[in-house]
Amino acid sequence: MDWQQVQDYLMQLSQHDNPVLAEMEDLAYRTHFPIIDRAVGKCCYLLCRMAKVRSVFEMGSGFGYSTAWFAMAVRDNGGGIVHHVVWDKNLSEQAKEYLKRMGLTDYVHFTVGEAIETLQNTQGNFGCIFVDIEKQDYPKAVEVAKTKLAQNGILILDNMLWHGHIFDDKNHEPPTEGIRKATAMIFSDQDFVATFLPIRDGIVVAMKVR
Ligand SMILES: C[S@@+](CC[C@H](N)C(=O)[O-])C[C@H]1O[C@@H](n2cnc3c(N)ncnc32)[C@H](O)[C@@H]1O
Repeated sequence: MDWQQVQDYLMQLSQHDNPVLAEMEDLAYRTHFPIIDRAVGKCCYLLCRMAKVRSVFEMGSGFGYSTAWFAMAVRDNGGGIVHHVVWDKNLSEQAKEYLKRMGLTDYVHFTVGEAIETLQNTQGNFGCIFVDIEKQDYPKAVEVAKTKLAQNGILILDNMLWHGHIFDDKNHEPPTEGIRKATAMIFSDQDFVATFLPIRDGIVVAMKVR
């Protein structure tokens, strides 16, 4: 058994029958756009269903693939809102189109802007905050997200293996250091109960317990 075999198995088990999601996956593969893909998407959906999350703030939403999984969870939990935030207007427009075709726009609020600043300026607390921005900005994102999570809210961060670079002692590039620092911040913070899930490029899931 090797790592790739396990990942392939997980992808097989994460099949879905949604044609719009499949179209988005196809676009991502063709254009090399980094989406969370269906194994992480399904995991996010499941976590939000289990915790009955009704409000999600996404940091770094792209053309709406991860947003679609969160919006389906919020819809299936009885309704609520997912904040889609990306600094590229074209991606925001593209996301609107896809989510409209999936009948999910009632559950999504679109903002074109920098994600950390937008979170700081958005009223309220969130049941789930998802982080998928530039990796060097993860420590700041964790710091701000902590203040905006509801009691028992879930923090999810993608790319926490950073393609294995975190294990390379000689790699001190800003994205690698950003992932290392954010991981240390979460796992040393008594206010969080956290785990690491080795799905695709790795996700950290933490609950704010205090
Ligand atoms: C990894 S992609 C997101 C993919 C999306 N989460 C998905 O799985 O479908 C990150 C996106 O967020 C944008 N981005 C990166 N840092 C950002 C920031 N600080 N504020 C807003 N957008 C950001 C990038 O340009 C890119 O479009």
